[in-house]
Amino acid sequence: MATVRIELPHHAYDIRIEPGGLEELGASVRALAPHGQCGLVADPVVRDLYGASVEASLVEAGYGVVSAQAGAGEEAKNLASVEEIYQVLLEARLERRSPVIALGGGITGDVAGFVAATYLRGVPFIQCPTTLLAMVDSSVGGKTGVNVLQGKNLIGAFYQPDLVVADPLVLNSLPPREMRCGLAECVKHAVIRDESLFGFIGDHHKEILALSSNEVVELVRRNVEIKAAVVMEDEREGGVRAHLNFGHTFGHAIESTMGYGAILHGEAVGLGMLAASRAAAEFGLCPSDLPATIAELLSAIGLPIRADLPDNSSLGRAMRHDKKVANDLVRFVLPRGLGQVEIRDDLPETCVDAGWEFIRS
Ligand SMILES: NC(=O)c1ccc[n+]([C@@H]2O[C@H](COP(=O)([O-])OP(=O)(O)OC[C@H]3O[C@@H](n4cnc5c(N)ncnc54)[C@H](O)[C@@H]3O)[C@@H](O)[C@H]2O)c1
Repeated sequence: MATVRIELPHHAYDIRIEPGGLEELGASVRALAPHGQCGLVADPVVRDLYGASVEASLVEAGYGVVSAQAGAGEEAKNLASVEEIYQVLLEARLERRSPVIALGGGITGDVAGFVAATYLRGVPFIQCPTTLLAMVDSSVGGKTGVNVLQGKNLIGAFYQPDLVVADPLVLNSLPPREMRCGLAECVKHAVIRDESLFGFIGDHHKEILALSSNEVVELVRRNVEIKAAVVMEDEREGGVRAHLNFGHTFGHAIESTMGYGAILHGEAVGLGMLAASRAAAEFGLCPSDLPATIAELLSAIGLPIRADLPDNSSLGRAMRHDKKVANDLVRFVLPRGLGQVEIRDDLPETCVDAGWEFIRS
């Protein structure tokens, strides 16, 4: 078990990485929000697998549990799902002190978090991430929100949880493809901040994918520490937090042009990191062998390093729709080497094109 604490000027909370932690969830929530009812917002697959035991733990701790479902998939990460959950909570008369608990991956956490931020202007919020991506990234740091027609995550709120309980035992049921997607975000953390983490993933990806407990707990802890440090430095993304978007400007363009579902978020981020590092190499910002070094690790993990991309102008249009565009300039997070990135808005189009060509199959 490991605990990482986030201390912000207005709020502090623990991220507990604890095999078996979900079975104790009721007692952990009660210690923070001792109220009669709680809202449990669960991913449908996760609810079938773990909902009963989580609910039993909450009931044992004295809660009346109001269950709502977060829709499955990126298409369901929308305002209609948020509205449905509001209705369930309102019908059950959940009050301002009633905690809302997210049980699922990043989609569930983002939707339930937005509900918690806005229901009665904000209620206590507990994240129980059940994918590797959600454990190492989305459950930590308070970004919540939904997609709209114009793009991903364009509507949302910064709303920090009161507790995060990451129980690595639930990864046993996670499809291997999803596990690899989570590892893509871990590689992202390594490239932006921690060369030794890059080495750790290179040395231990087989044990991690085989869900060896020690390596998984260490992986989650190291990644949560990186995410926590970034969030504590810059909660609202005025500066270094934007480094976490490494791979995302290219990646979101890949996701939105290829269609959500055709490619998973983590896979798109992996491809996006490759395109960004090839663009950075073309720009003269990083060593020319960096893209191949990252590609080698992603490939060893089993992530795609090429995709059947649309033409560059469609990708460019999708990129300019991204919310990381400022004053009409696309802001790229580019590597200078392993463990170091910088933000540039002067990347020439030829470099962007070199990035696309590097990952085009
Ligand atoms: N808020 C943030 O800071 C942040 C950061 C990164 C990503 N995100 C968001 O996260 C989302 C992606 O999250 P994700 O990759 O976790 O996807 P997800 O929530 O869709 O989960 C992936 C799949 O795994 C299944 N699943 C989840 N846990 C399981 C388990 N333990 N056993 C079996 N199946 C399980 C789900 O049913 C789903 O089909 C994207 O919408 C992205 O925008 C948010």
